[in-house]
Amino acid sequence: MQLRAALVTPVPNFFVRSHAPVPVIAADAYRLHVDGLVDQPCTLTLEELQQGFPVHTVTATLQCAGLRRRELTALEPIDAAEIVWDTDAISTARWTGVRLSDILRRAGVQPAAAHVGFLGLDQVAKTQDGLGGSIPLAKALEDDVLLAYGMNDAPLLPIHGYPLRALVPGYIGARSVKWVGRITLQVAPSTNHFQARAYKLFPSSVRAETVNWDEGEMLGVLPINSFITSPQAGVLPTNETRRGAVLVQGIALAGGDAVIERVELSNDSGQSWTAATLTSPPQQWMWCFWEATCSLSPGSHELVVRAFDSAGHTQPMHLADVWNFKGYVNNAYHRVRISV
Ligand code: MTE
Repeated sequence: MQLRAALVTPVPNFFVRSHAPVPVIAADAYRLHVDGLVDQPCTLTLEELQQGFPVHTVTATLQCAGLRRRELTALEPIDAAEIVWDTDAISTARWTGVRLSDILRRAGVQPAAAHVGFLGLDQVAKTQDGLGGSIPLAKALEDDVLLAYGMNDAPLLPIHGYPLRALVPGYIGARSVKWVGRITLQVAPSTNHFQARAYKLFPSSVRAETVNWDEGEMLGVLPINSFITSPQAGVLPTNETRRGAVLVQGIALAGGDAVIERVELSNDSGQSWTAATLTSPPQQWMWCFWEATCSLSPGSHELVVRAFDSAGHTQPMHLADVWNFKGYVNNAYHRVRISV
């Protein structure tokens, strides 16, 4: 799969991450329950969701918190239960659905509510429950947070959450709960396993044997990231190094609701940097493609990329700065060693 082949990823190429088998849900049997701290708890059918609220479309990148985990395993092993993702747990789609805020306003949010919990209709063997999680109410009320039923102008496929999923742009993928069956307004974050234990960030000193699961930071907003998609590490074929010029291409994603401002590439392990060209317009919620041509003498070189966003953020320099035993949110400078 060519990650950078299109700005909007064709559905067959979109990454998939599911913690349980895909539930089989018939459209006419589907119900969304809205409860908790609301004036009018309600139950909505798919048809009511599709016909009763304005349609909203958002183009947004979805990124798993485990993106670039493989690089972290080079420092020290990561929890064996985790998928060893490279740079492939990221894709972009045009999502269509209803604004979560429209549903919440219809239900009437009570003043004590501070978090919006989602619960999926899947059955995770380990927890005997669906995958759930929550986002702060302020985020839930943003215009581009959706309950999506469409992906790239077609109905969601079952693997991507048919008939309805949350779409929380700028947040780790786990908060975009698929097959969402219940939305609960609550005082505190969700106590579901995937919010209260998994998808938590621990300091680098913590190991699986010593972890206190009540500690750690619940992941939410994604940090800025960028990485090289080509060339891959190794020896370059001679046709790619004609006259010593190598085309380097990659992807950058701003943190949270920011936009990418600049991407820089180094061909000498970070001693000197040049600006890469952004080949797609930087846009909120969406990845941005970049490229640069490097002149390289025969020999071994370490290419390094780093990005800057409109919130003034850039990436940490070293993998050791971000290592954590679950291998989440690696956004260190991305390094690729090549020989010319
Ligand atoms: N929602 C449910 N109900 N069950 C899941 O296993 N996986 C989450 C999220 N939503 C998941 C879920 C994770 S970890 C990610 S990264 C995204 O869905 C992946 O969405 P995708 O499979 O459509 O790419």
